[in-house]
Amino acid sequence: MENLKIRSFAEYKKAYKKSVQDPEAFWSEIANTFTWQKKWDKTLEWDFRKPEVKWFQGGQINITENCLDRHLKKLGNKTAIIWEPNDPDEESRYITYRQLFVKVCRFANVLRNNGIKKGDKVCIYMPMIPELAIAMLACARIGAVHSIVFAGFSSSAIARRINDSECKMLITANEVYRGSKKVNLKEICDKALEETPSIEKVIVYRRTVEPTNMVEGRDSFWFDELQKASQDCEAEIMDAEDMLFILYTSGSTGKPKGMVHTVGGYTVGTTYTFANVFQLEKDDVYWCTADIGWITGHSYIIYGPLAAGATTVMFEGIPSYPDYGRFWEIVDKLNVTHFYTAPTAIRSLAKQPLKFVEQHDLSSLKVLGSVGEPINEEAWHWYNDNIGKGNCPIVDTWWQTETGGIMISPLAGITPTRPTFATLPLPGVQPALMDETGNEIKELNADGRLAIKFPWPSIARTIYGDHQRYKEVYFSAFENMYFTGDGAYRDATGNYRITGRVDDIVIVSGHNLGTATIENAIDEHEGVVESAVVGFPHDVKGNALYAYVILYNDVEPSDKLIKEIKDLVANTVGPIAKPDKIQFVNGLPKTRSGKIMRRILRKIASNDTGNLGDTSTLLNPEIVDEIMAEAKNI
Ligand code: PRX
Repeated sequence: MENLKIRSFAEYKKAYKKSVQDPEAFWSEIANTFTWQKKWDKTLEWDFRKPEVKWFQGGQINITENCLDRHLKKLGNKTAIIWEPNDPDEESRYITYRQLFVKVCRFANVLRNNGIKKGDKVCIYMPMIPELAIAMLACARIGAVHSIVFAGFSSSAIARRINDSECKMLITANEVYRGSKKVNLKEICDKALEETPSIEKVIVYRRTVEPTNMVEGRDSFWFDELQKASQDCEAEIMDAEDMLFILYTSGSTGKPKGMVHTVGGYTVGTTYTFANVFQLEKDDVYWCTADIGWITGHSYIIYGPLAAGATTVMFEGIPSYPDYGRFWEIVDKLNVTHFYTAPTAIRSLAKQPLKFVEQHDLSSLKVLGSVGEPINEEAWHWYNDNIGKGNCPIVDTWWQTETGGIMISPLAGITPTRPTFATLPLPGVQPALMDETGNEIKELNADGRLAIKFPWPSIARTIYGDHQRYKEVYFSAFENMYFTGDGAYRDATGNYRITGRVDDIVIVSGHNLGTATIENAIDEHEGVVESAVVGFPHDVKGNALYAYVILYNDVEPSDKLIKEIKDLVANTVGPIAKPDKIQFVNGLPKTRSGKIMRRILRKIASNDTGNLGDTSTLLNPEIVDEIMAEAKNI
């Protein structure tokens, strides 16, 4: 990792310049520091109009050889993963690189013994336990494509994802601890499995001793499978552009998008960005609090840190259990040096009495990170003052599931930080601000839509099974550019501040939710005619959801109905997607072509009704006043 690191602001500027002037030479030099099974012939081939991006063609690389094998000689006895359980009285687990290597190889053989081959899709629905990391790395070892589904998602959300990519196997755990609660994951899976014909085998890790329902011939226990597997497993030969994983993210239509990442570019991109943004030193302990079910966990709990030879912490629990000091207790206990979390967690912890922070020694901390949503000024300062004690640079990292790795961020201790700004693009990233007519805004001190002009190695290559949608969503807004879906402001010195989504995706507590998916769920209720869901500002979650719901004439609004609708959303999408507010309405503001005017609904939900803009072109302008009047009571 040392040979990847930029060490001064001057070096950053030099690297950035080179990455724009000669991207192929720039990335070749970086890629050369990795372990390749075979060197590539062509560094880059791309055309955003098609769209097509191929990095390191002709090259062969297995990410697990970069995360594990190549470290064994020097770092074999170094801790790769420290696992911190939900219950502070249960013991932490320390897994060295050598131990992890053996566990991954052995589980890779379990996959093979169960008929999984290169290219097969494997769904993983597991809690934050080391076996989740082992399962994903084992897939990568043999070239199986993992599709990890966040363990807070519902049965139907799992089923939709499994069916979309026709997964052959599901790996899960019987139960999961979450704070003081226990959730039966296997039960949720069993329900999903009623509608997933492609699944042939289910492997269940026993996290608790409770009896588990097992289906003969289909289900087996992780431990029993291990007994039958050898621990020798050669890494599969992988072409640089072979699929590494699929990860679903919300889209503007109801159907989630299976973003496809490929091995070569993703390995190079995540490791390079990890090394440079966080600037770890030899004995540092790095902790990212995300769940591995999201891209942050894929790239910056597992692949990036392990490829860089770091010690990475995995935490099973939640920040409020057994009390609101849990994060700080873990930092203290494990001497965490690098702490990376989401603004929503910072805001919720900042609301608690300071004693929860002060009880713990945070002097090990060197660098703080933020990801997933814009960090507001107040949260930034609280983080800086109370956690970093004014001594830790805060890296506000902007990126997306689609970008695979960090795109805009300070480099810790190397480039300047500025509250609420993700600051400067990383080398290899060429941002552009665009106006609504599709022209690039070249000025400083300007607001616009954020696009990227040139490919970077870890860009998602397609949406699984729907390349046309990939083209429409990301490459049709602006000619020959990738469109991020975010708005941004660029200040006088070229620093970027991300202002939020400009489409129908709402970031709630750092989770990316498509409003159409939630509307589809609400519309399933037999009393509902139609619904519209928008986001509104929330002081802890960043945004919360507001649902406007039209009922059939013979259905009476009631608290019971509100609960039913919320439960329906929790069951079809997941508890994180439950609307905070539900307003029953007689109609929705629509344009003459029948499109819901969400801009107006957003303003009403945000209680920002001073300037609603022109409503005269609406089909039913009178409905706006009616909705506004009743919104006051919600
Ligand atoms: O709106 C941006 C926001 O999160 C979106 C991507 O969500 P997802 O694919 O789930 O990935 C989240 C983790 C990388 C972006 O389009 N976002 C992410 N990071 C930031 C951010 N908004 C502002 N500042 C950030 N640092």
